[in-house]
Amino acid sequence: MKYTLAFDVYGTLIDTTGVYDTLKDLVGKDAKAFMDTWRSKQLEYSFRRGLMNKYAYFSVCTSDALAYCCKVFKSDFSAAQKDALLVTYTVLPSFPDVKGGLQGLKKSGHKLYAFSNGSSDAITNLLINADLYELFDGIVSVEDIQVFKPSPLVYKHFNKETNSTKTDSWLISSNPFDVIGAVSYGMRSAWVQRSEDSIFDPWGIEPTTIIKGLDELSSELNN
Ligand code: LAC
Repeated sequence: MKYTLAFDVYGTLIDTTGVYDTLKDLVGKDAKAFMDTWRSKQLEYSFRRGLMNKYAYFSVCTSDALAYCCKVFKSDFSAAQKDALLVTYTVLPSFPDVKGGLQGLKKSGHKLYAFSNGSSDAITNLLINADLYELFDGIVSVEDIQVFKPSPLVYKHFNKETNSTKTDSWLISSNPFDVIGAVSYGMRSAWVQRSEDSIFDPWGIEPTTIIKGLDELSSELNN
């Protein structure tokens, strides 16, 4: 069976910890805590904007979360330093298993889409920079409907845009909230658990399958 595959971008294809080195130069030993807080606040802001019907580009959630972290960590970054960090976010690297995994899936005849909270422009540039863009059949962004994951409207929008159905599509994501959102909507979903330390939310809504990297997905889809 050939599937329509929706790949989450930030944290799944693209490694958001790519900001670590830049942060290390700026905040030293606080770099890991700063990075983790930045990412979780970015997501929290997207969830809250979704609930409040106050959509703004995901890049706004990212920059607002950065401003929050500067206060928490008492980091008095200059405007140029903040800009440099936000630029780093637009040129993040992919995980090592991604390119080969995607190439194998494409060869097998599956349809590949990047599916993200990020805007189409942001995702296009990120994928071009990571040399992945050519592997995708398209990009589906929440910006078209102005709500964020994990609203069921977002997964429904994916199916509509790609002419797919709940049963012939899969969400592939490292983000448990995204996997739970997709499964709750009715799609199949693979959770990418690259590290034993990643914990899946114990809600009783489970992924269809768990993989350690995208190179494992092809054989899972054939099962
Ligand atoms: C995305 C975020 C949720 O790319 O990782 O949609």
